[in-house]
Amino acid sequence: MGIGKAATEFRNYEAEPTGYVEQFYRRNHANQTLEFVKQKKAEYLGLNRERMTAWQMLEHLNDLVDESDPDTNFTQIDHALQTAEAARRANQPRWMIATGFIHDLGKVLCKFGEPQWAVVGDTNPVGCRFSPKIVHSDFFALNPDSTHPVYSTELGIYERGCGLQNVHMSWGHDEYLYHVVKDRLPIEALYMIRYHSFYAWHKEGEYDYLCNDEDRALMKWVRAFNRYDLYSKADDRPNLNELRPYYEDLMNEFFPEPLNW
Ligand SMILES: [Fe+2]
Ligand SMILES: [Fe+2]
Repeated sequence: MGIGKAATEFRNYEAEPTGYVEQFYRRNHANQTLEFVKQKKAEYLGLNRERMTAWQMLEHLNDLVDESDPDTNFTQIDHALQTAEAARRANQPRWMIATGFIHDLGKVLCKFGEPQWAVVGDTNPVGCRFSPKIVHSDFFALNPDSTHPVYSTELGIYERGCGLQNVHMSWGHDEYLYHVVKDRLPIEALYMIRYHSFYAWHKEGEYDYLCNDEDRALMKWVRAFNRYDLYSKADDRPNLNELRPYYEDLMNEFFPEPLNW
């Protein structure tokens, strides 16, 4: 439980007592190959599984527990409200509060039958060398791409400065939700959604050589968002009944129609 934690106590993978998170990253790093990512994109990006509003989806996901997260036992609605409320308290624009509220809805991939290692946790580029600064990077030794003659090189299949939009990220809820909402929110919001789990980039500064100037300019929004996503897990459980009218209104503003999932 996150209540009362200091900032340095988050994402402490050494102190994690159960071993679940380590097992999670062993599977994630062993299996997230370029081929796997391309296959999942082909499988899911037709967005023809469900039609649901953002609010309905949040309720649908509420029983999900994220095995990659050492910091929280809150429900998905709690976490959505904590993130959004932290942005709201900081007087961020309404689109950013809305983004905080929906940013993890891509976790519906679990409900579609995907294992947790293909849905949650940190993300990283595939098709090029895995950075040693990625969490539990030792487990990439189990990934066949790490000895591939092209994919194991610094640039791999990419060109220097090609821009993150041309880079395949490991498959999960970030990339998936980006495609669900990409016509509905400003570019800053889309970066927050698409790269919020790309800690090797927004926290460690890795993979700059794949970025273009737009990526570099927008990274500050991803970082700003991260404060609300990560550190709000120390906050008290939000009161859904009190907050419901505000968030129903917000969802009606940004997502008046059901979305394709
Ligand atoms: Fe997330
Ligand atoms: Fe989150």
